[in-house]
Amino acid sequence: MSILKLQYIMSNEIAKRPFISRPPEPPSSVLINDPYKAIFIGTTNIFKVPFSWTFDNLTNPHIAVVGITGSGKSYFVKTFLIRANYIWDTNAVIIDWASEYKAWVKQSGGVIVSFGKGDFLNIMDLSGMRPLDRTKQIINSFEILTDISQFPEQRRLTEEAIEQSYMNFGFKLADIPPAEKEVPTLKNVIELLQEKLQEGTYEYPAEMENAIYRLRQFAREGQDYFARKSTIDLSKLAVSGLVDIDLSGLPDEQHRALAALVILQILKEKMRIEGWSASKGLKTLVVLDEAWKVAGDEKSDAVMIVREGRKYQFGLIVASQNPTDINEAIFSNVGTTFILRTRFEKFLNYLQSSINFSDTIRNEISSFGVGQAAVDMAFQTSLNFPHVFTLERIHGEEPLYIYTINMSDVLTKAEVDSGAISKDYQFEAEELKNKLIEINIGSEEINNIISEFDSHSRTMNMNEFANLLKRSKISNRDIVVFLKSLSIDDILITRIISNESETGSVNSVEV
Ligand SMILES: Nc1ncnc2c1ncn2[C@@H]1O[C@H](COP(=O)(O)OP(=O)(O)O)[C@@H](O)[C@H]1O
Ligand SMILES: [Mg+2]
Repeated sequence: MSILKLQYIMSNEIAKRPFISRPPEPPSSVLINDPYKAIFIGTTNIFKVPFSWTFDNLTNPHIAVVGITGSGKSYFVKTFLIRANYIWDTNAVIIDWASEYKAWVKQSGGVIVSFGKGDFLNIMDLSGMRPLDRTKQIINSFEILTDISQFPEQRRLTEEAIEQSYMNFGFKLADIPPAEKEVPTLKNVIELLQEKLQEGTYEYPAEMENAIYRLRQFAREGQDYFARKSTIDLSKLAVSGLVDIDLSGLPDEQHRALAALVILQILKEKMRIEGWSASKGLKTLVVLDEAWKVAGDEKSDAVMIVREGRKYQFGLIVASQNPTDINEAIFSNVGTTFILRTRFEKFLNYLQSSINFSDTIRNEISSFGVGQAAVDMAFQTSLNFPHVFTLERIHGEEPLYIYTINMSDVLTKAEVDSGAISKDYQFEAEELKNKLIEINIGSEEINNIISEFDSHSRTMNMNEFANLLKRSKISNRDIVVFLKSLSIDDILITRIISNESETGSVNSVEV
């Protein structure tokens, strides 16, 4: 039996004992970095240390950002990209699922590529790759997006027809292609398969028909966004400053995902070809925001970029409201995770078990305000301090004016209580202006609307706002288009329009 003995001990001795003294935040030597080589993010919660981010001591430069809608993910990404560009001249390619970044990129003087609204991408572009390798990548995308892997014969037919099309255009499958040589499109591939079908010599015509049908979805007249000559030079994408790939004009998730996958393939290839340049912190950042299909699949090149990116100074930023949508190979390999407000127990459990933080931090996360964040960093060497800490707020480039349209005067109490319907719509000034431009409102009216909004402390009820639009001579049809662009339910739109009609003269409106 051991005997309990009292000891005299100096407090500085106690302080050396990690279980008592373990500070709640990493030491400032880790948090504070050379401002010319690191990105300022915000001030820590407890010791108010200005935290600047660098990946020098981290396992890799990749970043995951999670948090509910409106928690500030996209705002963080924008702030980060601006500062990375300022410090390292970092290029950025944003795969912009829902056109969230477009207005900002335009305003920052970046390049905008709008698929489905005038821009085309020929998925058979080689961008310096051998046709053999490019064919494999195209098939890989089809495997992620369609059921082709369940039909080996159709897969074989498709692969062969793609290769044959390259050969028909004078390419050698295993040779690096000459630059500027015209490449085939999916339409050529489909023609080849059709010719073969018509010859009538092939044993399983049904397989052939299905293979053709599958490809046609991407080549139909009017929806041939990926089966025409490209309007952009893919090989320059990674070095063109700030580039927004706006996918919102494409008809469905499958088309959006195909564009995203092809762009990742090309970027990954560029990354490998261009190799190391020791002069820069990060050469290019690729942003995947809410791109769950692309961030979630094991076969997606997002995974390859995460595995190999560091040595090429290529960083990936994935943002998602649902952390379980991010592939584990990505999530467990990112060097830094920013956790913004997260509410669902399921997601909190997942984050807590994969990142391993205290219940205190868990509680903080679930009650964070906009822009507040917990940060987890994966250091190359194991260190004797907590790797998760919280920030007062992500400190953006400039004070932002946020305009809020509140739905409480449209929703019933039960709808508000159910929490299923969004109560507030929030916009940055530019974002709101752009939405109004999209429904063809003149600049004078827009300025009037904004100043009216300003005089209401930038918060208005929806019915009030709809009346304001009406007074600005905006037709019901355009108001409906505006409301639809916020993804408001048709039933609620009818409610808003008919309420508003009580104060103005309105003719009937189709929703
Ligand atoms: N750190 C912050 N400081 C000030 N405003 C912020 C901050 N983070 C977000 N916002 C504002 O809150 C709103 C929602 O942010 P956003 O980044 O679009 O959220 P998410 O992408 O998570 O849905 C935007 O109007 C944005 O400008
Ligand atoms: Mg967002």
